[in-house]
Amino acid sequence: MAVGAWQRGLVADDGSQCMWQCRHIEPLKLENDVPDTTPLSQRPDMTVFLNGKYIPGDQARVGVMTHALSYGTGCFEGIRGYWNDQTKQLYLFRLREHYERLHNSCRIMNISLPYSVDELIAITVELVRRNGFRENCYLRPFAYKSDEIIGVRLNDLTDHFMMFTIPMGDYVATTGLRCGVSSWRRVDDNMIPARAKIAGAYVNSAFAKTEALQNGFDEAIMLTSEGHVSEGSAENIFLRFGDELVTPPPSENILLGVTRDTVMRLAQRELGHVVRERVIDRTELYIADEIFLTGTGAQLAPVIEVDHRPVGAGVIGAITTDLLELYGAVVRGKLAEYSDWLTPVYSDSPASATNGAHATNGAKAAKTPPTGRREAAGAGRVKK
Ligand SMILES: Cc1ncc(COP(=O)(O)O)c(C=O)c1O
Repeated sequence: MAVGAWQRGLVADDGSQCMWQCRHIEPLKLENDVPDTTPLSQRPDMTVFLNGKYIPGDQARVGVMTHALSYGTGCFEGIRGYWNDQTKQLYLFRLREHYERLHNSCRIMNISLPYSVDELIAITVELVRRNGFRENCYLRPFAYKSDEIIGVRLNDLTDHFMMFTIPMGDYVATTGLRCGVSSWRRVDDNMIPARAKIAGAYVNSAFAKTEALQNGFDEAIMLTSEGHVSEGSAENIFLRFGDELVTPPPSENILLGVTRDTVMRLAQRELGHVVRERVIDRTELYIADEIFLTGTGAQLAPVIEVDHRPVGAGVIGAITTDLLELYGAVVRGKLAEYSDWLTPVYSDSPASATNGAHATNGAKAAKTPPTGRREAAGAGRVKK
């Protein structure tokens, strides 16, 4: 199927152009070959969740004076769903952790979210089911200040919640990213709290990403005001030195990534690596053996160059490759030990009965990840 303009217009969290593979959704009929530019979320055959209701995309309306639009006063999540063609099941990844983070973001932003974590999980599963995706997808829940007023503040305002979902294929170059250290510093906890996923804070990411792209890099690495390594424009960062993986701690103004947590656990349990949270200097980027970025959008993205200096041998490293393989297997439900991280969407799939994953309403999603530490490196080899 040709990629239509409505698909090309969609850009990932990190600003990169996505490779959309929409087998399920046909483009709207075009007159005289004029490309249809209707955004996916506004199509009548797409269902979105707005103000407590599932409605067709073309009926979803948000006012032009909406506070969050003017002032960035909203917080959101980015969640992925992975289609497994063998089990004919769509797995939503770590919904509980995403919604716990959304609740925390809302507490910081003075937004009262009208749904519990379990209710959000149930709404999410129902939304994806109504859209009938049988391919990888992405979800964007958004809690925001909805009043149509002029006046910048967080108190005494009305809060609303919406969510859309779209098909999403892989998009990050697996051949390795060339990164540049940004001249834009990461927002500080006392400026715009980085641990909350606040809409307005993404202007900081946008500045960094734009500078990186315009300077010929693929991605930006941002430093804190003190000059320590913080994260990418929409990804956390890991460096390998010998047998040890290091990543900046929460106090370095990072978003506490769900993928970061996943990779830390997989590296320790499955591959037997030491993973340490510690302050990282800029020049450590130039001497690391391996570097990779993690995020829901980017997944696990190898970095092969920083500021024109090759990382290690300038090719994708062995540990990054191992983790990429493991991560890909976990998110698609191929490692039973990690099924508690997955919420299956379709109850009629054979997988939902056999893999021990959550009930489809998600209410039983496990708070803690799987038990049982793997003893030896490579013990969790991926089943293909
Ligand atoms: C600024 C920022 N840091 C890190 C991440 C990675 O977080 P996660 O792995 O939860 O997607 C993201 C992605 O949403 C992000 O926007």
